[in-house]
Amino acid sequence: MLILSIDTSCDETAAAITEGRRVLSNVIYSQILLHKKWGGVVPSIAKRAHEERIDFVIDETFRKLKVKRYELGVKRVDYIAVTRGPGLAVALEVGIKKAKELAARYKKKLIAINHMEGHIYSCFVQNSQGSPKRKFRFPYLALLVSGGHTELVIFKNHLQYEVIGQTIDDAAGEALDKAAKLLGLGYPGGPVIERLAAEIDNKDIYRFPRPMLRSNNLNFSFSGLKTSFYYFLKKLNKLNNYHMTVYGSNLRELASSFQRAVFDTLIYKTEKAVKETKINRLVVGGGVIANLYLRRLLQRLIKKYSGQVFFPPFKYLTGDNAVMIGVAAYYKAKKNLLVKNLSTLDRIPRLSL
Ligand code: KG4
Ligand code: ZN
Repeated sequence: MLILSIDTSCDETAAAITEGRRVLSNVIYSQILLHKKWGGVVPSIAKRAHEERIDFVIDETFRKLKVKRYELGVKRVDYIAVTRGPGLAVALEVGIKKAKELAARYKKKLIAINHMEGHIYSCFVQNSQGSPKRKFRFPYLALLVSGGHTELVIFKNHLQYEVIGQTIDDAAGEALDKAAKLLGLGYPGGPVIERLAAEIDNKDIYRFPRPMLRSNNLNFSFSGLKTSFYYFLKKLNKLNNYHMTVYGSNLRELASSFQRAVFDTLIYKTEKAVKETKINRLVVGGGVIANLYLRRLLQRLIKKYSGQVFFPPFKYLTGDNAVMIGVAAYYKAKKNLLVKNLSTLDRIPRLSL
């Protein structure tokens, strides 16, 4: 069963060909360089870049399989899968329009996928040889940490999810991006903060507040942390007569302490979820999980509960990609969960699991 999948949920134009859980071809055209100078994703720029690149990306996905002509390639696939949300409305629209157009022209069945279920399935992707095997053993606890989402989910069975905790304001990645912006570190902030923090062994010098640790549920909140970070920097500047260069000497300490506050919250809530659900098999997805320190913390946590933690097996799977969409679509195809009427498929920017 061959699936052509497309994801244009944010700032990556992505397409893939998958067969079951196996990746046959994968192309990701990142827009980071276009958005970098604006300090974040600019919707109108994202839309235009997706529109300009989508045909090229699909073409390239087939070319990698030595299929010279786009049309020949699309003819050979059994299904077309596309992300319908959550994400940036104007960006999602581009992928959905293209998927509908191809499905209509080549008479293909269309499957609509939730981007977050894609991030869950990213942990079960296999290379073209079927490795790693990772047999499914439900239920799992899933922790999803990206630029737009922070969620704890019970992955009960294929396509069955129960969200048990989520952020009530900023997502973890968003918080890291905003802190990096305040420190003048550019976009995206996560990777730079990781590097600076690693240089001082991820020490927590300033002990920024972790307000959500006091609440009794599994929800996350990072806006309080962000605000206190902002005022802390302001005070620091004032003490130093507004010489912004002060960050230069404290940069690592500030970045590392902020990252610790974010990760402590993630670990604390994940532990609470493990205890409450008694599920010790953890699946982790989303851009922030590229962070090696966070991976270590999660491994340490799950070891304490004699469980297992599964990360996306290949690096490109942590960020946005279409492979994970194709793999989730495979399970929908098996259940014949298809888009019945092409004209009714629309983007849902705030789609939840
Ligand atoms: O999943 P993703 O690529 O896009 C969304 O769907 O949002 O996640 C992007 C987020 C950004 O906030 C970025 O700063 C963060 O992932 N990120 C990281 C790292 N690499 C990317 N955060 C921490 N450490 C990293 N190494
Ligand atoms: Zn994502």
